[in-house]
Amino acid sequence: MKLISSPGRPLQGTAALPGDKSLSHRAALFAALAEGESCIENFLVSGVTHAMLKALAALGVSWQLKDSSLTVQGRGFRGLQPPAAHLDCGNSATTIRLLAGALAAAGVPVVLDGSPGLRRRPMERIVEPLLQMGVLIQAEDGRAPLSLQASRFPLRALDYTLPVASAQIKTCLLLAALAGDGATILREPGLSRDHTERMLGSMGVSVTREKLNGSQQIMYEIRLMPPKPLGLKPIILSLPGDFSSAAFLIIAALITPGSRLTLKQVGLNPGRTGLLDALLAMGARIQITAQSTRNSEPVGDLIVHHSRLHATQVKGEQVARMIDELPVFAIAAAFADGTTTVKDAAELRHKESDRIAALCQELGALGVNSVEYPDGFSIQGTGSLRGGTVQSHNDHRLAMSLAVAGLAAQEPITIQDAEIISESFPGFAATMQTLGVNLDFV
Ligand code: S3P
Repeated sequence: MKLISSPGRPLQGTAALPGDKSLSHRAALFAALAEGESCIENFLVSGVTHAMLKALAALGVSWQLKDSSLTVQGRGFRGLQPPAAHLDCGNSATTIRLLAGALAAAGVPVVLDGSPGLRRRPMERIVEPLLQMGVLIQAEDGRAPLSLQASRFPLRALDYTLPVASAQIKTCLLLAALAGDGATILREPGLSRDHTERMLGSMGVSVTREKLNGSQQIMYEIRLMPPKPLGLKPIILSLPGDFSSAAFLIIAALITPGSRLTLKQVGLNPGRTGLLDALLAMGARIQITAQSTRNSEPVGDLIVHHSRLHATQVKGEQVARMIDELPVFAIAAAFADGTTTVKDAAELRHKESDRIAALCQELGALGVNSVEYPDGFSIQGTGSLRGGTVQSHNDHRLAMSLAVAGLAAQEPITIQDAEIISESFPGFAATMQTLGVNLDFV
C-alpha cells in the first residue's frame, strides 16, 4: 500500500495516542509470568504486540483483548507450556529478546524465530551473557532462530557491563536474573528506558538503579535480587500514550505552518524524552502540562506550536534517550536553519532498517543534502523539501517520518510499502486526518 502525504494544511486540535509499545510488551509478558489475573488498559493493539500475544498463547497463556483492554491469566514461571512449534516473533525484536530472557528463567525449551527482517537483527548481545548465566541457548551466526533448552536451576547470577545502552538487552537479562542464584548486577553505558525496573518493582521485585560516579563514561548500575520463591504479583495498569508515536505528531506540528496541537497523557519516562531536549534546544515551542505519575511512570500533556527551528547537535548519552525518534528528528533537522549533526548513534544501523543509510538515501531523493557517518549523519537544513516517491525500507518509523515530511514539502510525498506502519501505530493516518491534514492510503 502507498501513503500519500500532501502539504497545505496545519495540524489543529487534540489527540490521544495509542498505548505505549514498550510498556504493552512488558505488561503482557510480565502479566503472563505472574500468578493471577492482570488487567491492562490502553494496551497497544498493533503488529508487534500481536506477535507477543500470539507467542504467549502458544505457551499456554490465556488472555482476552476487548478494544484496547487486555486481561491476562498469569501462569507463573513454572506454569508455561513448551509450545508445539517454533515461536514466530514476526518483526518484533522486543518480543524475541524479552521472551528469550523470560523463557530462560521459566526453563521452557523453545525455538524463537521471526521474519526475514528480524533474522537480520543482532542477537549475540543477549546470547553471550545468557550463556554466562548457564542458559542453554544457541543462535545461528549470532542471529535468530534462537534455540533454548531447559537449563539447570537456579541460573548463575550475572555481573555484566552491557556493550551498548539498550533496554532490550537489559530487560532480557533482568528477566533471566529473576531465576538467578543471587543478586545480578548490570552496568549500562547510558540511560535507556527503565520501564522494566519500574514495572518489576511494582510486581514485588527488588530492583534498583544508581548512577556510578568516577568513570569518564556515563554508567548506570542496575541491581536485581531474585524473589524467593520465584514469583511476580499481578498488575492493574492503564498505559500512557506512546511518546515514540507522539514524536511524529510533534514534529509534524513544528514544521507545518499554522499548527497548534495538544497531545493528552503521553508517557514521559526520562529514558524516552531525549527528543524533547533536542527540539527545545532547536527553538521548538512545546509546553508540558498536567504532569503526574501513573502506575510508576511519568505522564503529561504536550502543547506544540509551529516553530522556527535552528540546527543542533545530538551525541553521547542523549542518543539512547531518543533512539527511536532519530528518524523523525532528521525531518525536523531538514526543515531547520543550519546543519544538524547526530553522532554516537551506530545502533541506528541495527534497527528495522539501517536507519542511517536509509534516511540519507530517502532525504536525498527529496532534495536534502546529508552526510553519512559510521555512527550518525549530518543534515543540511532547507526550508523547502521537494515532493516525490520514497521507500519505507519495511521500517514503520521511516515510513511515518517521511509522511510527516510531506505535510510541509513543496509537493506531495508518496511512501511505498507504507502498510508496515501498522507494526507500531495502526491509527497513524486516521489520527492525522482528525487533526486536519491530508494523509491517505491508496
Ligand atoms: C525497546 C528498546 C529499544 C527500542 C525499541 C523498543 C524496548 O531498543 O529501539 O523500539 O521496548 O525495550 P534497544 O534496547 O535495542 O535500543
